[in-house]
Amino acid sequence: MALVICRHPRAAATYLADTIEAAIRDQDRIAIGLATGRTSAAAYDQLVRRHHCDPTLSFRRVTAFNTDEFVGLSGDDPHSSRYYMNRHLFHHIDIRLENTHVPRGDAVDLEAACRSFDYALQAVGGLDLVVLGLGHNGHVGFNEPGSSIRSKTRVVDFTESTLAALSDGNRFETLGETPTQAITMGLGAILAARHVCLIATGIGKANAVHRMFDGKPGPAVPASLLRSHQQLTIIVDQDAASTLKQEPDDTRRA
Ligand code: GLP
Repeated sequence: MALVICRHPRAAATYLADTIEAAIRDQDRIAIGLATGRTSAAAYDQLVRRHHCDPTLSFRRVTAFNTDEFVGLSGDDPHSSRYYMNRHLFHHIDIRLENTHVPRGDAVDLEAACRSFDYALQAVGGLDLVVLGLGHNGHVGFNEPGSSIRSKTRVVDFTESTLAALSDGNRFETLGETPTQAITMGLGAILAARHVCLIATGIGKANAVHRMFDGKPGPAVPASLLRSHQQLTIIVDQDAASTLKQEPDDTRRA
């Protein structure tokens, strides 16, 4: 496990963008798992700029799998992950849209939507790299506390703390308009990725970062389960790292 402590959020986004760019340039075809959210979008914005400055950074051979989508929202809904990803990344790069997979939160048969997402993941041989954000309660994707290490893509109910975080005015204006469920990629597919990269910035994530590292890993803090992964990179800024009691052996500064 490598912990990278960056001077500020922008440096963390740059480090993540560098990691994604290197992975894309390194492999002929690559399957990447992508989180939605402001922290990861800061890195996507940088990738868009780099692609426009240097078209040799091409996404033609990338297949993307988003980690989650809200149940009940269609891709046209500005609150959906599909809309968010199109707006922040997919519509500004040369990725083939048919190679972008976001779970269908508006499917009539949600179970079938989950199976078809997992089927597409299997068809490419799993993820080479997965980019994750961090929820305030330690969730990754929308694998809420209590999620199994072997879980597959499935429908999950939000915990109260996630509902409160989602309805804080940034993603949704009110609790009433906040969906109560999501489809999330399971921890099984996340942990099977060859490289897991998690980014968390800001003082608001400090407690979740602390809980991810301190104590025994367990399902109460889903992100702590990542610690068993062979190739895990955690990118934080100084604020998010501020409550860490002990830094891992492989701690770098950027
Ligand atoms: C939600 C999403 C994740 C995202 C996380 C962090 O929990 N399910 O995909 O990574 O939020 O979002 P943000 O970066 O906006 O804090």
